[in-house]
Amino acid sequence: MKKRVVLAYSGGLDTSVIVRWLTDKGFEVITYTADVGQGEELDEIEEKAKQAGAVEAIIEDVKEEFARDYCVPLLQSGALYEGKYTLLSALSRPLISKKLVEIAHRYDAHYVAHGSTGKGNDQVRFEVSVWALDPDIEVLAPVRDWEFKSRDEEIEYAKKHGIPVKVTKEKPYSYDRNLWGVAIEAGPLEDPWTEPPEDAFEITVSPEKAPNSPEYIKITFQNGIPVAINDKQYEQLWKLIWDLNEIGGKHGVGRIDMVENRLVGIKSREVYESPAGLLLMKAYDDLESLVLDRFTYHYKLTHISQPYANIVYEGLWFSKLREALDAFNKEISSLVTGEVKIKLYKGHFQIVGRKSPNSLYIEDLATYSPKDTFDQKAGGAFTKIWGLPLKVFARVNRKK
Ligand code: ARG
Repeated sequence: MKKRVVLAYSGGLDTSVIVRWLTDKGFEVITYTADVGQGEELDEIEEKAKQAGAVEAIIEDVKEEFARDYCVPLLQSGALYEGKYTLLSALSRPLISKKLVEIAHRYDAHYVAHGSTGKGNDQVRFEVSVWALDPDIEVLAPVRDWEFKSRDEEIEYAKKHGIPVKVTKEKPYSYDRNLWGVAIEAGPLEDPWTEPPEDAFEITVSPEKAPNSPEYIKITFQNGIPVAINDKQYEQLWKLIWDLNEIGGKHGVGRIDMVENRLVGIKSREVYESPAGLLLMKAYDDLESLVLDRFTYHYKLTHISQPYANIVYEGLWFSKLREALDAFNKEISSLVTGEVKIKLYKGHFQIVGRKSPNSLYIEDLATYSPKDTFDQKAGGAFTKIWGLPLKVFARVNRKK
């Protein structure tokens, strides 16, 4: 019997060459392509895969599943890698890995394969995710192992095997796009001092080209799930995220430019566009600060959000730890109901209003007007006790 492999297939040159290469090595290749909101027509994928030698090409729309089961938990976790990156690429890998494993089981395949290189995070995310779901599956990473020493050699091989190589002059950038945003790498971006050229961006306009007047939007959350923009209810969550990308993108909102620490030890310059991701995360956090008591809110910030970001970045989505943190976030999310008002203007956005039926903001306690019900005398007693440790310390140590 032929060895069977399920390959995560994008339709691009690399993964097409992989189809051929694996076929040459005696594998029967089944390709899997997920629509995670990359905004590309997937019509020609089947033909491309088969032309490259695939015995079967599976294409699936998983936008809603991606939104519900991946974007929402991430949103509720408050995770931003190194405080900046919305983790968009890291988020799609576990979903794709899960699908690869399912298809491998369905087709009785012992192998899955991906097109990631040996110096990125994605190889780790794919492989660790697959093993976490089925430790017996073998993962192949042809790009890491094959004999081609340059892009030219790969193109030569493609041409020899009738794999179409786009002759149009492509942009010098490498993209990874889904509902949660776009990751842009390579070309001139490899110099961290070079400002990203405008043609690098896919879904955001430059602040200079953004409208000259601000736009206000309102996002409604129901038990931790975004359900409406400007009172327009969405049946499908992916569509809400999609529209939010468009609104943010139009105002040049959502660009991230950073040097980040990859898992494999190197630093890389990364440029992202994540309008919906950033808008939703900031809005969610803002509502949390309104509905959570101080202890819970602070605990979440220090003990959940940052560890969660590393878990996702480092390929540990299918870990007990992530599930346990999700349980914490889910417990809190039941309180996150309300509305957030956001002002977007020329590359920036600001939260300018929030309300919730669960709001802990009590005007009678906060006000400086005569309506004040706060017991100010208690403030004096509290301050005395609060400051006591430092007072004692000073008495012993600072008087010397
Ligand atoms: N550095 C980012 C990450 O690790 C982006 C990766 C983009 N992936 C890609 N295949 N272009 O999440």
